[in-house]
Amino acid sequence: MPITSLSEKRILFVSGKGGVGKSLIAAGLAKELADSGKRVLLAEIGETSYYRDFWGLKQEITHIPSKHPTEKFDLALWSGETSLREYVLFYLKMERLYNLFFENKVMRALVNVAPGLSEIAILGKITSGIRKVGPPMNYDVIVVDSYATGHALALLEAPKGMMEAIKFGPMGNHSREMDQVIKDEKIMSYIVVTLLEELPVTESIEFRDKLKKEFGVSPSIVANKVMHAPVTGDEIAETTQSKNSGLAEFARHIKAVNERKEKYEKLLAESGSKIVEVPLIFSADPNELTKKTGEALRAL
Ligand SMILES: Nc1ncnc2c1ncn2[C@@H]1O[C@H](COP(=O)(O)OP(=O)(O)OP(=O)(O)O)[C@@H](O)[C@H]1O
Ligand SMILES: [Mg+2]
Repeated sequence: MPITSLSEKRILFVSGKGGVGKSLIAAGLAKELADSGKRVLLAEIGETSYYRDFWGLKQEITHIPSKHPTEKFDLALWSGETSLREYVLFYLKMERLYNLFFENKVMRALVNVAPGLSEIAILGKITSGIRKVGPPMNYDVIVVDSYATGHALALLEAPKGMMEAIKFGPMGNHSREMDQVIKDEKIMSYIVVTLLEELPVTESIEFRDKLKKEFGVSPSIVANKVMHAPVTGDEIAETTQSKNSGLAEFARHIKAVNERKEKYEKLLAESGSKIVEVPLIFSADPNELTKKTGEALRAL
């Protein structure tokens, strides 16, 4: 059974607080969709590949997609620099500008610090298939393992900044197109990954509210690493009264953990976001982790 609510989407944008499991959730989504017959690209954003280490791959993960050796999806790594290079060459068709940017050390340094330029290039790459520009992207869906919330927001805000700075010409037009794509929920779906703990939940709610306010989109929320005690609440409550003080203390601890979990579940649910839980998986095998994560995400 594929992930029905996401099966028509073209771009799945995964973000969340640092370390909460964004990359694993993105991998699980990619696997689930690819196994259901979709042509899927799992795209990492950044300078170095996480997935190469995760799966212990021999091949380099580069800007140009390559096949995963064992899974049915492709992998790519899009950095500001590789995306900008492509942007200048393919979209603006300015070879001289390209040379000016990349053959000159000073220009290159400037490009790297210019506000929004890397972001616009990366977002340009993410949305290029939809906008039908640049090298062909023969995928039904691109799963984007994006930055953590703050930087992800800067990525999504880049077109607006660019539109304000450059009203006319190709860059202004491209920015307008990108801005339309990221606001179109028929095309894009946002997935915010969190743990059921105070800081990630607070950050996720803030991020979700900003996505709603600035782009009019409502993300789904994935609560990751959720632990389900294989006993009922009543059984735990009873055990807290045990004469065995060690056992009673342990039961009180479990009870407190459960109460915290429920509190954060409630907090996330209050806003009406769709929430799906992925269990804490007891395995170090990347294939097992990805498969189990994908299975849990079918509920999305
Ligand atoms: N549900 C889970 N069960 C077990 N382990 C998990 C689960 N989710 C994530 N992990 C593990 O937790 C660690 C952090 O996950 P991951 O690297 O996906 O987080 P991230 O949000 O992408 O981090 P970063 O912000 O550094 O990119 C990894 O070792 C991952 O395999
Ligand atoms: Mg990651």
